[in-house]
Amino acid sequence: MVTALVSGGNRGLGYGIVRRLANEFPASSLYTSPSDKLTIYLGSRDVSKGEEARKSLYAELAKDVLDRVSIEVRQLDTSSHDSVTKLAAELQPGIDILVNNAGIAMDGFDANVAKQTVATNYYAVKDVIDHIPVKDGGRIVTIASSTGVLRGFGDEVRDRFRNAKTVEDVDRLMEEFQQVVADGTWKEKGWKGAAYATSKSGVIAYIRALAEVYKQQGKRVDVFSCCPGYVNTDMTKGKGHKTLDQGAETPVLLALHKTDAKPGEFWFEKKAYDWELRQSN
Ligand SMILES: NC(=O)c1ccc[n+]([C@@H]2O[C@H](COP(=O)([O-])OP(=O)(O)OC[C@H]3O[C@@H](n4cnc5c(N)ncnc54)[C@H](OP(=O)(O)O)[C@@H]3O)[C@@H](O)[C@H]2O)c1
Repeated sequence: MVTALVSGGNRGLGYGIVRRLANEFPASSLYTSPSDKLTIYLGSRDVSKGEEARKSLYAELAKDVLDRVSIEVRQLDTSSHDSVTKLAAELQPGIDILVNNAGIAMDGFDANVAKQTVATNYYAVKDVIDHIPVKDGGRIVTIASSTGVLRGFGDEVRDRFRNAKTVEDVDRLMEEFQQVVADGTWKEKGWKGAAYATSKSGVIAYIRALAEVYKQQGKRVDVFSCCPGYVNTDMTKGKGHKTLDQGAETPVLLALHKTDAKPGEFWFEKKAYDWELRQSN
C-alpha cells in the first residue's frame, strides 16, 4: 500500500492536491503495479472540515479511481507540536509521500505578521518534516511560491539566501528577518517588506539545504519545493487564474511521477525554476 499525507487538505490547493493525487495515481509512473493502492491522509486542523472535504471528494471521484484510492482524515495543526507528534506516532513506520501544503498569507506588514507568517510557513513546515516519518524511497513536496525568488533583496541578503548551506543558516535568516522587521531596519538592511514572500524564500532555501543534509546522511528521501502558480483559492481572494486542479499539477508531478527533478530543486510550471537567475529578468 502506498500512503500520502497532505497538510491543509480540507480546502483550497490542498483539496485540489488530494483530488489530483487520487485521479493521477492509477497512471503514476512510480507506482506501476495494478495491485498498488493509495491511501491519502487528508490533514486538517479541524477534523469536521476534513470530513466535509472527504465527503465532497468521494462524490467527485470516479468509481475506478476509488477502486485504487481511499481517503482518510487525520487531525493536523502544523503549528501545534503536539498535533504533529501525535500524528507522527500514528503514521509509523512511515508514509511514502508527504505534501506540505498548509500555509498562510496575512494582510499588512509588521512584527506580528512577520512572526506569525514565519512560524506557520517556515517553522511549522520544518517541524512536520522533522517528525512525520517518510519511508526510504519516499518523497517530500513542499509548496513554496514564486514570490520566494531572490529578486528584491539587497545584494548581501540575497547572497546569504543563495549561499545558505545548512538548515541553521536558513534559520538564522528567518530569525534575522523577524528582528529587522521588529526594530524597523528591514529596508536599510536589504530585506523585503513582504512577510509571505520572505517566508517562502526561507522554504526554498531550507529544502535546498535539507537535500544536502539527507545526501550526507545517506537518507533515501527526495525533497522538492514548488510553486503551484496563481490559484483561485481563499488565499488569493478570487483573483487566482488557475483552477485547483491546474495548481495541483506540479506538486502531484513531483509526488507521483518519474521526472528529472534533482533533490532540493524548486519547481514551477512542471520544470526546475532558477530562483537566482530571475533576478536580472
Ligand atoms: N493560491 C495560490 O495562488 C498560491 C500560490 C503560491 C503558493 N501557494 C501556497 O499553497 C498553499 C495553500 O494555499 P491556498 O491558496 O490553498 O490557501 P488557503 O485557501 O488559505 O488554504 C490554506 C489551507 O492551509 C490550512 N492551514 C493554514 N494554517 C494551518 C495550520 N497551522 N495547520 C494546518 N492547516 C493550516 C488551512 O486550514 P483551515 O481551513 O483550517 O484554515 C487551509 O486548509 C500555501 O502554502 C500557499 O502559500 C498558494
